[in-house]
Amino acid sequence: MSDPVDLVREDLRGFAGYKSARSEVLCGDVWLNANESAWANPADRQGLNRRYPDPQPQALCERLARLYGCQPAQLLMGRGSDEAIDLLVRALCVPGRDAVVVTPPVFGMYAVSARLQDARIVEVPLVDGKDGFAADLDAIGRAAREQGAKIVFLCSPSNPAGSTVPLDGIARLAASLAGQALVVVDEAYGEFADEPSAVSLLETQANIAVLRTLSKAHALAAARIGTVIADARLIDVLRRCQAPYPVPAPCAEIALAGLSDAALARTRERVALVRSERTRLHARLQATPGVRRVYPSQGNYLLVRFDDAEAAFHALLTAGVVVRDQRAAPQLGDALRITIGSPDQNDRVLSALRSQEAAA
Ligand SMILES: Cc1ncc(COP(=O)(O)O)c(C=O)c1O
Repeated sequence: MSDPVDLVREDLRGFAGYKSARSEVLCGDVWLNANESAWANPADRQGLNRRYPDPQPQALCERLARLYGCQPAQLLMGRGSDEAIDLLVRALCVPGRDAVVVTPPVFGMYAVSARLQDARIVEVPLVDGKDGFAADLDAIGRAAREQGAKIVFLCSPSNPAGSTVPLDGIARLAASLAGQALVVVDEAYGEFADEPSAVSLLETQANIAVLRTLSKAHALAAARIGTVIADARLIDVLRRCQAPYPVPAPCAEIALAGLSDAALARTRERVALVRSERTRLHARLQATPGVRRVYPSQGNYLLVRFDDAEAAFHALLTAGVVVRDQRAAPQLGDALRITIGSPDQNDRVLSALRSQEAAA
């Protein structure tokens, strides 16, 4: 297997990064090396927030590694997968020279991070077919080779399209780009999908990175815990490029509690409910007058085309239901994305759309 560190910007391969006081291994019982306060804040009764946190809290790292099926050394935690996306683009793309491939309509942060790094954005649109939107992996491979891309972002399940990318296709694409580009598989919605995680591909393919998050199925969006899982050599470089203290102590604490066996059992029940509500809402929406098409979805949302998306958006808003307007996205001029809520919330969506059609 080729060394994925060869994909990192040459000037960063040996970069030491910032050595925080917390990262030095020293012993003592009077800690005066980080300019922290000697006293706790009055609001912090137990003084748990007085000191800088562990940059990568070990217990959380081990728990996440077990959950995602990788080694702790293959995992880096940060402020949501948003930070992981940004970190990968900054570490791999030379500004003004390198490119990233994205597959619109897709999650916008890949292009935002590329733009901030002055990396070229190469678009290979998803193809809208009878089974929904699909990534054209041959076209993606061709574009990545021709345009000298350093990163290919695959979103699986794709936001907002809802489709997944088959693992064998990801493996073939990564093999064809070995030594040239990193294939990043964003599995922010992986818990809701039938397709297994691409983490299993890391054993045989070193130029793959997988993004996971606690923001969606685990209901901890405010804690901002996302991870990138990749070859341990690449993780080591990314860690040195990351801003110090990316995991605040209160966030690590709630994340660890939210991944206890009991919490995970509850999360699994909720994922099962979302999946069954997804099936119900899909069928009911498809039978709603004014709905043109409901895309199959492996995420916790449905992409829906309307005869009059403006009217549908406003009917929902009038009923107090806020959904994501997708009309500015390529190929989605008549579409809204509706997150699967609780059964009651989903009923509110259906009744708002039905009353609007009845009144029209
Ligand atoms: C596909 C995808 N990736 C990543 C993210 C960012 O997630 P996080 O909260 O972990 O930064 C989102 C958020 O909506 C998303 O839809």
